[in-house]
Order: sequence, then C-alpha cells, then structure tokens
Amino acid sequence: MSNNMNMINFEQYYHSKLFQKKDFIITRGKGAILYDNKGNEYIDCETGHAVLNIGHSHPKYIEILKKQLDDLIMIPPGYPNEVRYNLLKKLSEITPKSLNQTFLSNSGTEAVEAALKLALAVNRDKKKPEIIAFKRAFHGRTLGALNMTFNLRYRKPFLSWLTPNVKFASFGDIDSVKDLINENTIAVIIELVQGESGVYPAPYDFVRELKELCNEKNLILIDDEVQTGFGRTGKLFAYEHYEIVPDIVCMAKAIAGGLPMGATISSEELFNKIQIGEHFTTFGGNPFVCAAANVTIEIIEQEKLVENSAKQGKKMFNFLKELAENNNKLIREVRGKGLMIGIDYRMKVRELIKKAQDNFLLLLNSGLSTIRILPPLVINDDQVATVLKILENLT
Ligand SMILES: Cc1ncc(COP(=O)(O)O)c(C=O)c1O
Repeated sequence: MSNNMNMINFEQYYHSKLFQKKDFIITRGKGAILYDNKGNEYIDCETGHAVLNIGHSHPKYIEILKKQLDDLIMIPPGYPNEVRYNLLKKLSEITPKSLNQTFLSNSGTEAVEAALKLALAVNRDKKKPEIIAFKRAFHGRTLGALNMTFNLRYRKPFLSWLTPNVKFASFGDIDSVKDLINENTIAVIIELVQGESGVYPAPYDFVRELKELCNEKNLILIDDEVQTGFGRTGKLFAYEHYEIVPDIVCMAKAIAGGLPMGATISSEELFNKIQIGEHFTTFGGNPFVCAAANVTIEIIEQEKLVENSAKQGKKMFNFLKELAENNNKLIREVRGKGLMIGIDYRMKVRELIKKAQDNFLLLLNSGLSTIRILPPLVINDDQVATVLKILENLT
C-alpha cells in the first residue's frame, strides 16, 4: 500500500468515520486551483462547500491575517475590539437598514440556531410556537437546526429528540404555506436557492408572496444565506434577486474566506426581545476571524467578485442549458443562479464526479442525481472554458 493510501485509511479511521475521504491529498491552493502532493493541479469547483469565494491563499487575505496573528487572536465577545467593531459596522452597511444588529458565531448551523432562538424569544408568550420550513430544505445538523432540515436520512436516528412543531411546506407553493399557518405559527425559514437537495432557486413571485404573507400574519421571515451569501448567486445576497428584506438573515461559509464564522443579522426591534445569557458563544466574533471577514468582504468589493459571479455564472449556465437540451436523455435540467449551478442528471452522479476528478476538476453532488458547481468567484475565462469542456465530455 502506498504512503498516501496508508495515511488516507488511517485518517478515515481516526476521524470518527463520519466523512467519506477522497483518494488523493491536497497540500496547497492558489486562486481557483488546488495542488495535490504529486504535483497535480485541480480546478476547484467545490470550494470547501461554497466557502472559498475569494479563492485559495489570496495574498491580501494572508497579509492581513499575518498581521492580526501578531496583534490579537482571541478576546471574548464582552471585550470591545476595533476589528470586530469594523466587521459589525460593515455588515450593517452591506445589508438593508433594518438589519443592523448581529450575533457572531462559528458556523452555519450556529447561525441558524441563533435565528431560531431569536424567533422563539420574540414569541415567548406563545405556548406552542410553530415554525414553517420547506421540503428539501437543509439548515444544518445540530439538534435545533436539524428540526428545519427535511431529509429523513439526516433526521431518522434523532427523531425522538426532534419537535413536531416544525411543518414542511412545498417549496415554491404559496398555498401550501398558507395551509400550514395557524395561531401558533411564528416564523418561516427558507433558503432562497436550496443548496443541498438539488440546487433549486425559489420562483420570484413565490418569494414576493411569501414576504407579503409573513407581513400580513406577523411572521418572522428567516432567510438562510449560509450557502448563497457573499456573491455566490451573482448578487451579494440572494434576497436581492427577490427585492425583499428578510427579518433575520443567517450567514456563514464564505463570510470569513475559509475560517469558521457564522452571523445572524436582524433588527434592533427583534434583538431587544432576547436577554443577556439567553444565548452566548465563546469563540464567536474573535478578532482573528473578524479580520478574516473584513478582508474577505473588502476583496469581494474591490475585485468586483459579485459581478464576476454573475458574468461567469451566466456563461456557464447558458452553455450547460444547451448541453442539457442536446442531451435530454441524460440530463433532466440545469438550475441555478450566479456561480451556484446544478446539473440534474437522469442517473446517480457519483461516478460522474469521480470521472471529473480523474480529469482534475473537483465537483460536489447535491442530492443523488445533481452535480453542484461552486467555483470560487475569482474563476477566470480560461478556467471556465476548461470546466465546461470537462463537463461536456463527462457523459
Ligand atoms: C443553507 C445552509 N444552512 C446551514 C448549513 C450548515 O452550515 P455548517 O455546515 O457551517 O454548520 C449549510 C451547510 O451546508 C447550508 O447549506
């Protein structure tokens, strides 16, 4: 057995066996490219599951983090810190005016947990508060967020600890939401582009109607932008496509350019309803990660990465749509927004993803039959052309 395989097998064993390991070892990355320990170069269209929007090892990112390492890594949330202040201010500036207060945490599932606790705290007078989520939704795997995640595969072993007070509506069907609303309903949680179950963008009219319905019934609209945020869909946040302002926005993944951070953003009005001690985090908002988030947002703005996401995404989408039309026996549909694209095949895609990997393109699945393409937003014309060529030759 080669040294590589030895290490991979041992890592698989020691690492709780909860992860399916690849059969190669990545040692470094630059921009949209990853390098393995044999010198092979891969185009990264997985980006750590939509994390590396600014690409790997951006020089400015490294420079800022090196400086922050010298200054201060960690100080708990109770200690005011200029780097954290800058981030909080920036987050309130890049989101609509009403979203001006933020709870910083360490992951997407934590951003969702905080949103749920906030919604519950706001409605503490309700005896049996209910929340509406959507079929096919993914909001995380901790026990609170898992309640909002639809897939039975993730829920089944834990059903006895999950609440019956979450109801699942059909994505895109406003009547199915209306049917579930009763006097106990307090909130609706949605991914505007569902990321884990096949890449499904919500229809424009549906989201507009959903927002109106939430206003009318006094429900909190929680927008989970963990995967869609920071330019992934060709807008800074997906809610911009729909011209709505959610009541709570959950962010994570790309926010800190590769370091763990979650953010739950809402209004002063809602945050006024939760008290000190009712939620907390040790690591959340530490200056090292805040410095990473500040420079990530700066890079996204200065290098016009949202615009590049829209431009390259459109190019990819149009090409893939034509490919689907010419291969309709193999490909059911192409869906997506910006650089969040799914190719829905009429077969399981595991083997296709392996074939792409053999051609030095890294892809992700989304459900069993959809290939998910999530390139860094720094991807250039030549790299897009190579990706499309490989995808064209996959089947
Ligand atoms: C929409 C959405 N919400 C929440 C999560 C959970 O994020 P994390 O894995 O950082 O806990 C994910 C992760 O894929 C996600 O896509």
